[in-house]
Amino acid sequence: MANMAVTVAGLELANPVMSASGTYGHGLEMRHFAAPASLGAWVSKTVTRKPRPGNPLPRIAETEAGFLNSIGLENRGIDSYLRDVLPDMAREHAVVITNIGGESVDDFAELAARLDGERACHALEVNLSCPNVQGGKLPFSTSPAMAESVIARVRAATKKPVFAKLSPNVSDIGEIARAVEAGGADGITAVNTLLGMRVDWKTRRPALNTIQGGYSGIGIKPIALRCAWSCARAVSIPVIGCGGIACAEDAFEFLVVGCRAVQFGTASFTDPGKIGRLAAEMSQLLDQHGIASVTDLIGTLRAPNVLAKTPGAPS
Ligand SMILES: Cc1cc2nc3c(=O)[nH]c(=O)nc-3n(C[C@H](O)[C@H](O)[C@H](O)COP(=O)(O)O)c2cc1C
Repeated sequence: MANMAVTVAGLELANPVMSASGTYGHGLEMRHFAAPASLGAWVSKTVTRKPRPGNPLPRIAETEAGFLNSIGLENRGIDSYLRDVLPDMAREHAVVITNIGGESVDDFAELAARLDGERACHALEVNLSCPNVQGGKLPFSTSPAMAESVIARVRAATKKPVFAKLSPNVSDIGEIARAVEAGGADGITAVNTLLGMRVDWKTRRPALNTIQGGYSGIGIKPIALRCAWSCARAVSIPVIGCGGIACAEDAFEFLVVGCRAVQFGTASFTDPGKIGRLAAEMSQLLDQHGIASVTDLIGTLRAPNVLAKTPGAPS
């Protein structure tokens, strides 16, 4: 059997498969579908300082290839997470990455400090797609300076590995990747959802209460792959690929363009058990192709002509 172990920012993972934040609860809710130990790491739903009720319904809408959501970071807040979730996760011996979100740089720093002493939390993933309430409500992820300052404050507040989760809704994701690397990130997750919308033309109403929302699932894979590739070229810290991954071959595409691990999100809504089978399916596929280790695929894209071009240039 092919070797599936990978090391990502010092985390030794049994395999490169992680859950994508917000698509699998905090992890334990879904253990009857996939044992926590079957994944390289479990990424929590975004945890905020205070509980959040999320946005009013409807906040999920299907599209032809994936879906739109405007959940609005519903969660019970850090106190509940520390009390009710992490102790149970510790008993599962799983690698846990806690995804944090805030409305200000101080929020992020406080969350990082509170998680720093928690042994059951192995790393932090910083959701930079949260709106900056002090900065005109633009997401932190859209400005290199804001993204860097959030990561620098989180970095100063914790000794744990810090992953910056980037948004694809920017013109140059490589610039944001370099900014979070400069801020002290140990790795990057690329990417969060794309902004999108759907309307019912007969009623003239939007499908989501918030009108626009985050588009995810198989339809975004080419965009997510391009973003992950751009990040991997821009920085020397590891990149975790995310967006539209539904099978072993999808995951391999992200590894080939330079990612060290992948996250599995919206595809769980059609097959909740798939995430627990994915690493074994990847291993079988490697065996079929005579590849001894999953790490042999990482960064093996053969594209000399493309590398010579300006990023973003039309072909
Ligand atoms: C219902 C839903 C909730 C999500 N909640 C979060 C969240 O709380 N924090 C976060 O960083 N990303 C969140 N995401 C984004 C996913 O983690 C992932 O980045 C995105 O969906 C792209 O991957 P996918 O196409 O495999 O789903 C959410 C996505 C969905 C579909």
